[in-house]
Amino acid sequence: MAKLHLSLYLLSLTISQFFIQGVISSATFTFVNKCDQTIWPGILSNAGIAALEPTGFALQKGETKVLTAPASWGGRFWGRTHCSQDSNNKFTCGTGDCGSGKMECAGAGATPPATLAEFTLDGDGGMDFFDVSLVDGYNLPMLVAPTGGTGHNCTYTGCMVDLNGACPTPLKVMSDDGQGVACKSACEAFGDQEYCCSGAYGTPDTCKPSSYSQLFKTACPRAYSYAYDDKTSTFTCTGADYQVTFCPPSTTSKKATDGQQSPAIPTTPQFSDGMVYEGADAMENSGASLRHSYIFVAIVVALLKFASL
Ligand SMILES: *[C@@H]1O[C@H](CO)[C@@H](O)[C@H](O)[C@H]1NC(C)=O
Repeated sequence: MAKLHLSLYLLSLTISQFFIQGVISSATFTFVNKCDQTIWPGILSNAGIAALEPTGFALQKGETKVLTAPASWGGRFWGRTHCSQDSNNKFTCGTGDCGSGKMECAGAGATPPATLAEFTLDGDGGMDFFDVSLVDGYNLPMLVAPTGGTGHNCTYTGCMVDLNGACPTPLKVMSDDGQGVACKSACEAFGDQEYCCSGAYGTPDTCKPSSYSQLFKTACPRAYSYAYDDKTSTFTCTGADYQVTFCPPSTTSKKATDGQQSPAIPTTPQFSDGMVYEGADAMENSGASLRHSYIFVAIVVALLKFASL
């Protein structure tokens, strides 16, 4: 009898452990490269949070890579461009370089300017918080689209526009051959406390949008354009997985509904309010079914453990 009780106890422990680790917290991130060039995503986990490996990898044009986040993961993703290895095998990138000298960033962050996708999974109220930020500047268009989650603002965010060409001259970062490859934030370019929301400007009340941050906001209304842009730039989901797309095609070049396999892309999101994300339906399914298979596996494993006791 005592043995049965112990077994039942262990069974319930096993099940709850799987629910906590395997179901509630195991969001997947699907990285998609729709750029015309190879992108080298970088990953930096927040301080005190388990690393999400690998911390840097190559993503060829058209390639997709899926990573499963550890429980309650938090951190950021960005895309590095124009990367190469020199004769000493030192790896460096034209934009978003993390200074590690290697493909993996191993705890180092992006050198600005770089578009960032920021996540806190299983935060307040069990919700995931996420945003796309141009506070450290911009180097690539990025789209973050939740799949299978719920919540009143569980929807896509990002900066879908190519700002490298449109970047104001004082903010522009050029490659050696004269191409605009990134766009600095005003804080990075000029260092003023007013732009950086530091010093006397270090509160939401004193730090206001600048004409520069407003350029970013107009082009990318859902992305953070300055440090206190939270209200319109932070999104939340419960139980979602996420697709992170570099260079999402805009409808001006590609229609969202022409029956292609890959998830569709917002229709001219950058210029309209209350826009519809046409790909949402197609994307719901994959995320939700992944979650369900975790529950299924958790139960089967728990039963097997129970049977063997
Ligand atoms: C999304 O919801 C959160 C939590 O209620 C809120 O703080 C945030 O401002 C909302 N974001 C948008 C873009 O409406």
